Amino acid sequence: MSRLIVVSNRVTTPKAGHTASGGGLAVALHAALRENGGIWFGWSGEVTDQFTGHINFQREQGVTTATIDLEEQDVDEYYNGYANRTLWPLFHYRIDLAEYEREFAGGYERVNERFADTLTPLIDPADVLWVQDYHLLPLGEGLRRRGAANRMGFFLHIPWPPRRLLYTLPEAADLVRTLFAYDVVGFHTQEWLSSFEDFVGAEMGAVIEPDGVIRLGDRTIRVIVCPIGIDAAEFVAASKSPRARLAHRQMRDSAVGRDMIIGVDRLDYSKGLEERFLGYERFLRDHPEERKEVFLLQIAPPSRGEVASYQKIRAGLDSLSGRINGAYADLDWTPIRYVNQGYSRDVLAGVYRAARIGMVTPLRDGMNLVAKEYVAAQDPDDPGVLILSRFAGAAAQLTEAVLVNPYSAEELSDAILLALRMPLDERQRRWRKMMDNVLSEDVGWWRQRFTDALMASEATPA
Ligand code: G6P
Repeated sequence: MSRLIVVSNRVTTPKAGHTASGGGLAVALHAALRENGGIWFGWSGEVTDQFTGHINFQREQGVTTATIDLEEQDVDEYYNGYANRTLWPLFHYRIDLAEYEREFAGGYERVNERFADTLTPLIDPADVLWVQDYHLLPLGEGLRRRGAANRMGFFLHIPWPPRRLLYTLPEAADLVRTLFAYDVVGFHTQEWLSSFEDFVGAEMGAVIEPDGVIRLGDRTIRVIVCPIGIDAAEFVAASKSPRARLAHRQMRDSAVGRDMIIGVDRLDYSKGLEERFLGYERFLRDHPEERKEVFLLQIAPPSRGEVASYQKIRAGLDSLSGRINGAYADLDWTPIRYVNQGYSRDVLAGVYRAARIGMVTPLRDGMNLVAKEYVAAQDPDDPGVLILSRFAGAAAQLTEAVLVNPYSAEELSDAILLALRMPLDERQRRWRKMMDNVLSEDVGWWRQRFTDALMASEATPA
């Protein structure tokens, strides 16, 4: 196959395994590139006084990374601004949190142009380009303007919002039009894809043809549903590593016979952490007999701390966990263990395995790979129960989870009780089905499905 160039905002080389703060994307892409060779291009995460366009090449674990530094103003307007104050909340249905500032839109455009300028000389005509996520929606259009005629795909890792939310963004149509520079555009679920079709059809006059073909003016793109998975085999292996075994034993010991409920999420308002705590509180309130029989371990590494809505959610969770613990804790029992740091994949795998319940209850989530990791880490003889939000992309595949509406404290409370009382044979049956999916639709499957669609598309000349 041709050389693959993957482009994403963040480029990370998960050395000692990923931490929960890294997000699943980095792990998934790393696995994809290791097999294909090629380059992974993106922001170094570093800030310099003045943008130079200097590219730093590194080769690690069979993957070549090429990164550039950005200026402070770039980071403010592009990453903290348009990406995380405008697009992230809007695409997660939170127009109440979205900030529409021309300065942010300008910075986003400028950084995408910088990416296009520095990347263009690295591209050979036979390369296949694969651009990732909401930070870089217009990059393909910038590359085409500079003459790139390569096959080019775009994958969105977050939800696509309903049309009537998206059109609150002043430059929505212009931004969405840039996606027509790609040959293939991928989404995790049919729901996100349908919302995209709805917008381009109703707001932009695009023609939706069968088989995912969409025409706008003289451009034709193909849209596909392509749910991302985890590196399942590697995760299963990680769950048997010495560090995982140690973490598993330590968790078991510290649980002193109580059932553990585990949550692992970046500290983000889309993850439904407050709602989860409130659901758990409802469970404690309504089931006094269960009180000392369980505890919730919530691992939530801080994320995007320069953005006010993230500072707010952090303060809110500090006070909520404090209030619940204050109200219910006893001398020998703390209902919520709330931890603001990330852990390596091996440690997490051991912790997941020790948990009787995995609680993944985002209010909205493109996919959610923690749900899949929880499943992959379970002991087949005595698997735990996954409680999963209906509003996570993963719910379309993990249909045997206990599916919940994360906004309802009562549903969360009922689900916890159901999971604690679920007989072994039912746990095994549900887990087997979920595990089959996690193993078959893994990260390799995702990458293959997307690149197959890209190679099958008619490359659109610049
Ligand atoms: C989500 C996004 C990724 C992002 C990750 C971590 O998974 O889809 O693109 O990298 O969150 O967020 P951060 O802002 O720390 O890169």
